[in-house]
Amino acid sequence: LSTAERYSSGTGMNEQKALPDWDALSFRLTETEVVYRAVGESDQKPVWDDGEYGPWGSFPASPAAGVLSYGLGVFEGLKAERTPDGRILLFRPDANAARFARSARIMTMEPFPEKRFVEVCLEIVRRNERFIPPVGKGQLYVRPVEFASEPMLGLRRARSFTVVVYASPVGAYFKGADSGVRLQVLDEARVAPGGTGHAKAASNYPAGIAKREAWQAKGFDDVLFLDARGEGFVTETSGSNVFALFPGDRLVTPPLDDQILPGITRECVIRLAREEFGWTVEEKPLAIADVQAEAVEMFCSGTAWTVRSVGEIEHRGKSTSFSQTAGCQRLCQRLREIQTGTGKDPYGWITEV
Ligand SMILES: Cc1ncc(COP(=O)(O)O)c(C=O)c1O
Repeated sequence: LSTAERYSSGTGMNEQKALPDWDALSFRLTETEVVYRAVGESDQKPVWDDGEYGPWGSFPASPAAGVLSYGLGVFEGLKAERTPDGRILLFRPDANAARFARSARIMTMEPFPEKRFVEVCLEIVRRNERFIPPVGKGQLYVRPVEFASEPMLGLRRARSFTVVVYASPVGAYFKGADSGVRLQVLDEARVAPGGTGHAKAASNYPAGIAKREAWQAKGFDDVLFLDARGEGFVTETSGSNVFALFPGDRLVTPPLDDQILPGITRECVIRLAREEFGWTVEEKPLAIADVQAEAVEMFCSGTAWTVRSVGEIEHRGKSTSFSQTAGCQRLCQRLREIQTGTGKDPYGWITEV
């Protein structure tokens, strides 16, 4: 089957989909019009077919597809948005392209060509342009996914893969919570030590979903996982990196290891804090005890979260509040300036669509 034939009927290309209510956007899926799909075969040269843009719709999968039994799937998330002067900017697609390929390799899957990744993301934004929210209302979130589509029974690396890239308009990840999010700190780990926790792999998210939901029911916004080796070090929330600010403008974030996703927003925060604000930034193990005893401020970073203040953390019944948000606000403002094209971008982080 060609890529086109693999699409099921879906919505016809001529039929225009309804736009969402821009004022009610949250971080939820709104189906858009055009999806990209490519197929890769490890034992062919070139590995990847040209791929194709088609209508949003379902496509058939083998009941034995590797992703379904063995979780052989990786994904990315990046945002495009409108600028006040009428441009459309995509934030750091090259960095997401590199991480997409790296995640695939960690998961024994074929890496998707990075240059093609960037081109496809730009094209998906263009072809779904109607769905980019007006200035100030949100962003178009682009979600590239790769999974093993080969039917397989035993445990081994797969040889056939599918890449899909789609987009959805999104609003803020947290509504309300302006004074900062409340995090429950968990001794249970998000991912296993020595495993694939440093990949953006589908299989790394179930623990986050389960724990976050359980604690949301008790009034928390999210959970903060301690390290899987039981050493009391902070790792990540269900979907963001974390930072703690100590007196003397000393910013600490956990170092990249087998339990930390190399967040692209994390890297931006580190550069801005170091190069523009002159803060001391340390990537080193961050003990929860030190955070509770000495940190003046805490915040999280991620594509969905942006940079978000933490108002309160609770660990084993001990609660700590952070009333200061100035450092986070300053970082967030500078990052948003770059993302919205309203401030200078000396780093080459934005790509005009
Ligand atoms: C587990 C996890 N950590 C950190 C991040 C932050 O990464 P980024 O800043 O690249 O979005 C994400 C979100 O992508 C994530 O899912």
